[in-house]
Amino acid sequence: MIVVLFGPPGSGKGTQSEKLVEKYHLVHLSTGALLRREITQASQLGLSLQGILDRGELVPDTLMTELLFGQLKRYPGQALLLDGFPRTRAQAEALQATAPVDLALVLSAPLDLVLERLSGRILCHRCGATYHRSHNPAREAGVCDRCHGPLSVRPDDQPEIVRQRYSVYLAQTQAALAFYQNSGKMRTVDGARSPNQVFQELCQAVDLYKVNA
Ligand code: AP5
Ligand code: MG
Repeated sequence: MIVVLFGPPGSGKGTQSEKLVEKYHLVHLSTGALLRREITQASQLGLSLQGILDRGELVPDTLMTELLFGQLKRYPGQALLLDGFPRTRAQAEALQATAPVDLALVLSAPLDLVLERLSGRILCHRCGATYHRSHNPAREAGVCDRCHGPLSVRPDDQPEIVRQRYSVYLAQTQAALAFYQNSGKMRTVDGARSPNQVFQELCQAVDLYKVNA
């Protein structure tokens, strides 16, 4: 089973992915996390990616599909949750040709809400766990509950970059969404509700898919 999770920045893709992978035993592939890992390792690739992410632009399709498909090969036959891929029509077409999508889940969230969420987000750069200063604080300030790694803000969470990422989503990722629109495989969930309400709705969509598969 291949599930893709769409949504603008801050709509809750990472938060919901953590819950979904646990419940359905999926392998979580977050392209944002993969890219940040390259940057942290200061690889040749990472150095070329830093500016793109810091500006809130998309990584070129060829590079992105190569990176993602390299990961797909590591998990043959396993159920996957793709968080943040595809983001363009070209990526959607490439994925369809390699590993057809079974279910496309879309989290909706307006700009003012994601600006508020991302202004309070802190995350663990060691294990990727995500927190929010007021909605979902870590037990000990600045320390990850899960792995005790240090927590910090993402450089691309400054409000002007969040606006840029949001407009890139509207301009480019909506085109990728259109790819699934009439396939009967797409389900949109209101990402503005509480994490548990959103999770319940996502589970309904996954369960329905599994019953009919
Ligand atoms: P990526 O890391 O995927 O960033 P994004 O899509 O902008 O999404 P975020 O990770 O910011 O938000 P999220 O939806 O995961 O929200 P979260 O759960 O953390 O990509 C980063 C960059 O990499 C891109 O800009 C691009 O440059 C590049 N890239 C990645 N994939 C690419 C691709 N395929 N092609 C080209 N380039 C690519 O939640 C946010 C906050 O809100 C948290 O603090 C959380 O605790 C809180 N929260 C979550 N849900 C709720 C809720 N229901 N109620 C209250 N608070 C909530
Ligand atoms: Mg995320």
